[in-house]
Amino acid sequence: MEGMESCTCIAPVNIAVIKYWGKRDEQLILPVNSSISLQAKTTVAVSSRFKEDRIWLNGKEESVHNKRIQNVLAEIRRRATRHHVEGADGDIRQPCVHICSENNFPTAAGLASSAAGYACLVYTLAQLYGVSGELSGIARQGSGSACRSMYGGFVLWEMGQSTDGIDSLARQLAPANHWPSLRILTLVVSDQKKQVGSTEGMQTTVATSELMKKRVEVVPQHTEDMIKAIQQRDFPTFARITMQESNQFHAVCLDTYPPVFYLTDTSRLIIQMVHTYNTFHNHTRVAYTFDAGPNACLYLLEEDVPYIVALVNQFFPPPPNTQQAFVRGINVAPASLDKDLLECFKIPRSEGEIKYIIHTKVGSGPQLIEAEHSLLNSDGLPK
Ligand code: DP6
Repeated sequence: MEGMESCTCIAPVNIAVIKYWGKRDEQLILPVNSSISLQAKTTVAVSSRFKEDRIWLNGKEESVHNKRIQNVLAEIRRRATRHHVEGADGDIRQPCVHICSENNFPTAAGLASSAAGYACLVYTLAQLYGVSGELSGIARQGSGSACRSMYGGFVLWEMGQSTDGIDSLARQLAPANHWPSLRILTLVVSDQKKQVGSTEGMQTTVATSELMKKRVEVVPQHTEDMIKAIQQRDFPTFARITMQESNQFHAVCLDTYPPVFYLTDTSRLIIQMVHTYNTFHNHTRVAYTFDAGPNACLYLLEEDVPYIVALVNQFFPPPPNTQQAFVRGINVAPASLDKDLLECFKIPRSEGEIKYIIHTKVGSGPQLIEAEHSLLNSDGLPK
């Protein structure tokens, strides 16, 4: 298409180790506490010069007339230094955009796909429109947790104090290579029931949960201790706070009226498996965390990965004749497990309950990638 310009970027999903749950401002998406996340990756593309703004998500066209998308587009266009034509009448005219976004994670399953999606949208639009400087405040207005995906490594979303949200921003605590031996195993649980979305869930929690009042008081201390644990690469403390945060988040969900359930029986068996492993070693070697869905994210050090993968294979094996790889991402050879370790586990063998495992490291932030990876063809339509 004549005059078309496009830009393709990728952005990471982020799994919170200090949970964001509850807003103090719905419009601006301002949280009631600060939160911290780590990263994995996903892909999005953006192009420009069309008759109307259009968006395709995972191959399906969606309405662009969504408040959050509109807020993000308006903010980017306001700060644009390119494609920003001021007419003789003083009006600002800007070409329309076609947005095409895909992710390789189960959507709406509590794997932070909206975080990666909005982070990528903001980053890609910023490249195209020449918007520089602080972008996490724009991403936040797409989805709260998206502001943390604007940076790689270990990221803190500072809740901020200002009513206009100007100081509710993300910042990097440490780069991705700060803790090279840290690994993430995402256990994708098979039974993905339709859950209450995060936006609605946290609204009901803030409105009804008494426990939430206590949580808001204790999160600042969790955050301070977590920052120190990350700086000092203190795995046992990092792991303990991660698990306590996950448990407290799901406790306030249960204390919500009517209650919100994200954990399933499989999630609870995973929790039991992790604690049994840690108790056997008399040391905290693995942590779990769950967002708004049943999938587990396990944080652990490289040396424990072969054992945990072997344990998942043992207790949650894929059904026989499964064609697709059970472990994806970084290659790993499962360890052989000692009899005395196996005897400690009082959990049933649940075949097919875990669909697959994703093995990753802490990732980097959004990145521009080559035009050959564009999701839009030369007419600006999905390929
Ligand atoms: C459980 O960022 O999806 O993943 O701001 O309403 O879009 P909105 O909510 P969202 O909430 C994420 C909640 C969480 C915890 C976290 O990521 O900190």
